[in-house]
Amino acid sequence: MSDAWRVTRGADLRARNTFGVSARAPLLLELDEAARLADALAALPAGPLLVLGGGSNLLFAGDPEGAVLSLRAASLRILAEDGAYAIVRADAGADWHGFVRWTLDHGLYGMENLALIPGTVGAAPIQNIGAYGVEVREFVHAVEALEPATGRSRRLSRDECALGYRDSLFKRERDRFIVTAVEFRLSRTPAVRIDYAGVREALAADGLAAPTPARVFDAVCALRRSKLPDPAAIGNAGSFFKNPIVPLAQAQALADAHPRLPVFPGVDERSRKLSAAWLIDACGWKGHRDGDAGVSTQHALVLVNHGAATGAQLLALARWIAASVSERFGVALEPEPRIVGDHW
Ligand code: FAD
Ligand code: EPU
Repeated sequence: MSDAWRVTRGADLRARNTFGVSARAPLLLELDEAARLADALAALPAGPLLVLGGGSNLLFAGDPEGAVLSLRAASLRILAEDGAYAIVRADAGADWHGFVRWTLDHGLYGMENLALIPGTVGAAPIQNIGAYGVEVREFVHAVEALEPATGRSRRLSRDECALGYRDSLFKRERDRFIVTAVEFRLSRTPAVRIDYAGVREALAADGLAAPTPARVFDAVCALRRSKLPDPAAIGNAGSFFKNPIVPLAQAQALADAHPRLPVFPGVDERSRKLSAAWLIDACGWKGHRDGDAGVSTQHALVLVNHGAATGAQLLALARWIAASVSERFGVALEPEPRIVGDHW
C-alpha cells in the first residue's frame, strides 16, 4: 500500500464492467500516479495482469486469473502547437467521451464522430476505436506504455501500434504493454465528416451548408442514443462481434444471393466487410432471450444482460449465434470484446 496506489483483495468487478456480470479479482490494484506504475507492480505477486479500463469491451466469462490493474490518472494537456495542429496528451485513465468534448472545447477538431464511445483513453488504441466513418488511428500520434516483462518505458509511434479495423499491436500481443498515456495530433481547422448513414440526414434538418464540429458531436450522440442500448439501463458491451472481412468473391456471391446484405470496403481491393448485424438479424436473433442473456431488441449486434446473466451464459449465447451465422451464410464471426476467464 502507498499513497499512490491501493490494493483490494477479492474485489467485486460487477460495477466495473458494462455487461454488469459478476466477477471477482484476486487482487485489484488502483493506481493514481502512472509514474509509480513500476513500483506498484513490483509490490504485486508475479503472475498474469489484466488492465481494466471502463470494462466496456470485455466479458468476464469467469474470474480473472491474476491481478487487475486500474489506472486512474486522467490529466489532459496540450503539449505542442504550430498554429495548424496541436499535439495533445491524455492519461490512460481519462474518460474517452469527456476527452473528446475537451478537444472541441479547446478548438481542436476531428474526433467529434467518436463522441459517446464508452471507456477510457488508454483503451482507445487497443482496438483502434471507430464510429461513423472515423477511426482513432487517424489522430494517434504516439502511445506511452510500460512493458512489464522488461520494465522498459516505451513511446510507440503510430506506425509501431499497427492500428487496423478493431485491431492493433496491443491486441495481437495481448498484455505485452500497459498503455499509460496517448498523444493525439489534432487540427485547428474544422473539417467535418458526415457521410456515414444517418449523420448527414440528422444534420440536414438544420439547413446549414457547413455543419460545425460541435453540431456533428451532438448529432453523433443523438444517433448513438437512438441506436444502441445504454449500459446504464441494460448491460452490454456495444457490438459483440466484429464486422467480418471476407474475400471479394465470397462477398459478391453472398450479395447476389442476399441483395439487402450491406457490403462495405474491406482492407484492400480483394476483400469486403460485411454487416454482422444484418447476418445475425437474418438468422432471427434480434430480441432473442435465454433467461437473462439476450440480444438487444434495438440492435442485432449487441448482446445484453437483462439482469442476472452470467458471463458464461452470454458467451454460450454468442457461440450459438456465431454457429447459426456460419451454418446459414458460411461466414465466421469473431467476438470484438476480450473474453476473460474462457476462450472463444
Ligand atoms: P476495457 O473494456 O476496460 O478493456 C478493453 C481491452 O483493452 C482489454 O483487453 C483491456 O485489458 C485493454 N486495456 C484497457 N486499458 C488498457 C491500458 N491502459 N493498457 C493496456 N490495455 C488496456 N467501440 C468502438 O470502437 N466503437 C464504438 O462505436 C463503440 N461503441 C460502444 C457502445 C457501447 C454502448 C459500449 C458498451 C461499447 C462500445 N464500444 C465501441 C466498445 C468500447 O467502448 C471500446 O472498445 C472502448 O475503447 C473500451 O474502453 P474501456 O476503457 O472500457 O476498455
Ligand atoms: N443492421 C441490421 N440489423 C440491426 C442493426 C443493423 O440489419 O439490428 C444493419 C443495417 O443495415 C445497418 C447496418 O447493419 O445499416 C450497419 O449498422 P450500424 O450502422 O449500426 O453499424 P454496425 O456495423 O452494426 C459499427 C460498429 C459500431 C459503430 C457503428 C457506427 C463494429 C463491429 N461496430 O456497427 O461500433 O458504433 O458501426 O459507426 O464495427 C462497437 O464496436 O462496439 C460499436 C458499437
